[in-house]
Amino acid sequence: MKKALITGINGQDGSYLSEYLIKQGYQVHGILRRHSVAENQDVRIKDMDVKTYYGDLSDEISLFKILRKVQPDVIYNLAAMSHVGISNELPIFTVKTNSLAVMQLLELAKEICPEAKIYQASSSEMFGNSIDNDGFQRLSTTMNPVSPYGCSKVMAYNLVRYYRNAYNKFYCNGILFNHESPRRGSNFVTNKVIKSIVMIKKNIIKKLELGNLDSKRDWGHSKDYVRAMYLIMNYKSPEDWIVSTEETRSIRDFCRYAFKLVGLNYKDYVIQNKKFLRPLELKYLKGDSSKIRKKLKWKPQYTFESMIEEMIEYWMNKIQ
Ligand code: GDD
Repeated sequence: MKKALITGINGQDGSYLSEYLIKQGYQVHGILRRHSVAENQDVRIKDMDVKTYYGDLSDEISLFKILRKVQPDVIYNLAAMSHVGISNELPIFTVKTNSLAVMQLLELAKEICPEAKIYQASSSEMFGNSIDNDGFQRLSTTMNPVSPYGCSKVMAYNLVRYYRNAYNKFYCNGILFNHESPRRGSNFVTNKVIKSIVMIKKNIIKKLELGNLDSKRDWGHSKDYVRAMYLIMNYKSPEDWIVSTEETRSIRDFCRYAFKLVGLNYKDYVIQNKKFLRPLELKYLKGDSSKIRKKLKWKPQYTFESMIEEMIEYWMNKIQ
């Protein structure tokens, strides 16, 4: 049985990937960070057949021990300080977790499990406001990040490429555009909007405060994107890939559709609060995923609409 180690196993992607890898016949191991609220520790994976270990990417001793014990065949590095806005409040922590810790992982894996393949969760945030003339971002687009988070991910992206080339390793970057689901953290805009809509509908709150409504994102579903991760790791050669829907919509479009689904008009409820604006805004994302569609035959199964519908349904049942 092949062994997979997932860092960030209790995150949105970590939990969907665990389910997917179990179905593919993997023994799944994962690293959990200690959480002060014990119930939140493993909330997304508690019913899954996975082995977990307390650790932290930035704690090299825990990482060393886990790698030595598990001896994974494949490592999916999904752990990160993943909130772009908050990376402005926690810039040093962001770089330590998202860049330096990745170097630590690469170095330790090279010594302890030299045959292990590594997947690195790279991000469309790395492009910042660079857009090609045809309105897409692709592998050749200049990376011009506009947040500490984006900068930290560019460093990790380059480290993975460096180790791959210098030591002839199967290390890959998946540059994933935004991806959502009912398991999304509720301080990311999509789940914040959906949860608030349900609470408005159920008369629990009256308004929804947001920041910039005009930035555009290429939003897919996390379940489709973990499938892409698996395909990337099982391709014949280690490469870098873009994973996206090739469609872009504004936060306003998202609100319009989601409110309409429950019979409301977003204009009656959404108000702007400067607190949610960022020092620099990434204004527009639309990824060219032709490479993965062609070479790995990947394509998303969810649409923008079916994803939102699933999220609404989930929160309608959850919030009483
Ligand atoms: N979070 C948040 N909260 N975002 C808001 C809000 C709000 O109240 N109001 C407007 N926005 C806007 C943000 O300014 C941004 O333009 C957009 O909504 C999306 O914000 P997020 O959902 O926080 O995602 P993100 O695009 O910054 O980052 C996500 O996608 C990256 C890939 O491009 C994260 O998942 C990153 O980890 C990921 O790498």
